[in-house]
Amino acid sequence: MAIRIEPRDPLTQAQGVEAGYAQTARRWPSQPLVRRPLGAAELSGPQHLARRLPLAGGGKAGDLAGYGDKRAIGQLVRLRIRVLDEDGAPLPGTVLEVWHCNAAGKYIHPNDTHDAPVDPNFYGAARLVAGDTGLVELRTIKPGAYPVPDTGGWWRPPHVHLSVWGRVWLSRLVTQMFFPGEPLNEADAILNAIRDPGARERCIACLASSKTSEMIFEHQLVVRGRKASAGTP
Ligand SMILES: [Fe+2]
Repeated sequence: MAIRIEPRDPLTQAQGVEAGYAQTARRWPSQPLVRRPLGAAELSGPQHLARRLPLAGGGKAGDLAGYGDKRAIGQLVRLRIRVLDEDGAPLPGTVLEVWHCNAAGKYIHPNDTHDAPVDPNFYGAARLVAGDTGLVELRTIKPGAYPVPDTGGWWRPPHVHLSVWGRVWLSRLVTQMFFPGEPLNEADAILNAIRDPGARERCIACLASSKTSEMIFEHQLVVRGRKASAGTP
């Protein structure tokens, strides 16, 4: 299987260490890269993972918000994320991982030392498979903003972390989806690490409807090409 790793576009793909966000130093190489032949560890991938997961939108896997007495606190939202290739063609069967914090800005993760309250009814993460039209649908609550650790006074805007697996482990897009109209978007160092304004805009979802019990947000995730969704540090 021929695998070609495209070089990153510095205008549309965030990269490097972001000032003020200490964690980005651990997410980016501090030394020049060394080219070496790819081995089985890189050229193998998540085989048949999609078959072991329910289709997006079906059952509990597409729901982080719970129901009734077990409902997570927060504004109910439905995310409709369409996974597309560079020509806008849908990518059915794509495995999408989603995770975000609760409405108070707290992640379900031991590294989250923020003193915001935990929500026992919030699930926090899901792994879903895109349906025939490339659509992944997730019912959840709108995540809160949270202060960035180790800095003075910078709050991250509400956002949803997304990861898409390609055919091999090396082929993975990790990005974030932002919400429209959020004042904190303007000053967010992670969003602004994407230099191209159009690429930043493509990371922000659209409010499709607020006329139902859930606010519906639509978002496109483009896995490659000139309009590829920006990877975030
Ligand atoms: Fe986050």
